[in-house]
Formats: sequence, C-alpha cells, structure tokens
Amino acid sequence: MSKICVTAHANDFAACVTGIDLTQPVTGVLSDQLRAQWLRYQVLYFPDQPMTHGDLERFTESLGPFGHDPYISPVPGHPNILEVRHEPDEAAIPFGSSWHSDWSFQAAPPNATVLHAKVVPPIGGGTHFADGVRAFETLPQALRRAIEGRRAVHSARRPYSHEGYRAGGKRTSMRITPSDDAWQTQCHPIIRTHPESGRQSLFLNPVYTLGIEGMDADESSQILQELFEHMLQPDFVYQHRWTENMLVLWDNRTVMHSAQGGYSGYRRVMHRTTVAGSVPV
Ligand code: SIN
Repeated sequence: MSKICVTAHANDFAACVTGIDLTQPVTGVLSDQLRAQWLRYQVLYFPDQPMTHGDLERFTESLGPFGHDPYISPVPGHPNILEVRHEPDEAAIPFGSSWHSDWSFQAAPPNATVLHAKVVPPIGGGTHFADGVRAFETLPQALRRAIEGRRAVHSARRPYSHEGYRAGGKRTSMRITPSDDAWQTQCHPIIRTHPESGRQSLFLNPVYTLGIEGMDADESSQILQELFEHMLQPDFVYQHRWTENMLVLWDNRTVMHSAQGGYSGYRRVMHRTTVAGSVPV
C-alpha cells in the first residue's frame, strides 16, 4: 500500500495530500489515516485526481452517507452531485461567493463538503477557507462572554426564498429552485463542540446566520459583525488555488468558505457532494 504524504499550510490549517489515488476505493487503514488528517487540518486538497461521477460518489460515501442538498437540481442521473457552473458570459456573482458553511440552516448540517474541479479558469476562481477553531481559541474575552451558552438563528431565506433569490438579480447557470421552505429557521449553538475531535469552534456565517436567539436586534447585529471580523482576519484564512482534477474536502462543522471571482470571460465548473452531519452541540 502506498503511503500518503501530507504537507500542511501555515497554522496547521489546510494540507495538501499526495500518494493516494481517489479513482480507487479508499478503505481500511488508508481511510482511517485520511480521516485523522482531515480532522487535524480541516481542509485537505488532493491534486491530479481525474475522477468520474462514480469515483466522486464512492469517495464521498467512504466518509459517511450523502447529505441532503436542497434548492439546487443535481447532475442528471446523479442525485447527490451538484454542479457549480459559471459561464464566460455570465454577469451573476459566482455561486457561494459570500462567506458561509454549507446548509447551516438544516437541523443537522453536513459534516463535510467535497468539491472536485472539472474546468478551472486561468485566472481567479479560487476558494477561501476560514478556520473556525482558531477563531474560537483566540476570541477576545468580552466577545466570548457575550456569546457563551447562546444560540444563533440560521435560515436559507437570503439566497433561497423567492424574495431573496429575486433580489439576487442576474441570470445564473446554477439550477436553483427557490422555495418558501427557505423561511424556516434553525437555532444552533454559536460555540460548537466537534463530535469527533472534541475541539470547539465558532459555528456561524454571514449568509445563513440571521441573528442571536433572544437578543435585541441591534446588539445581535453588532456582536455578529464583531465575530465575523474576528473570524475573517487574514491569519485565519487559507486561500486555495485550483488546478483541473483537484479535489478538496473540508470539515463543514468548523470551516467557512467563499468562492472567489476574478475570472470574467472564462468558464469554471466544479462538482460538489456533501456528507450528512449531526445536530450541532
Ligand atoms: C460552494 O460554496 O460550495 C462553492 C465553492 C466554490 O465554488 O469555490
């Protein structure tokens, strides 16, 4: 069996993994090793993995059952793969370009997201990741006291209600179906404990987090703004650059991400799956 090689980035947040072929089943010791590295570095990327839809599905299922991906039509014949597509003539801002963690409005948001690069523009189009563990560990005392024991209210209404979607404007290649379901809300602890590593992190994001439960609206938006500024300081952010056939796996429980633009006139196509999660505690 080949030995995987893991090269970590600054602050031990994100790592490059080579010496593994994801077009083949990942099982046994290899699967355990990969999971340990993923829990440690939170974002893993694997260059040069020319995977088919079937390979992507099998790799995703090696991490756990598929998550439920609402509002976006999947790739025909592959109900668990979404296509993130942006065409050269498209004026819409790229899908996922505001900071978020995936589907945090669900009762049990996904544990993991897997993104595989099919068409990569020659400029721009990276993805940025923010480390929610480090953000929690370095939180100023006053801010920590303000949120200890508190829950945040999450909802899909901004991007996926009919009203929010219309306000977004421009034509997009994403096959999105807005719905009144997007008005539903879910409350999750702001300080979340990871069910596998036991590490604590900040679990909230500017797209889906509407406010802090039971707190006056002005105070809540002030605190959220301070939290987001703290979470997004450059020292906590890893700026990922893609190459074709690269796969990225991130821990959606502890990491926020944001798709970057800067590739106007070029096509970008990614395939995405999620792994089902548990109720945040
Ligand atoms: C996403 O938010 O899932 C898409 C990220 C990307 O396309 O870089």
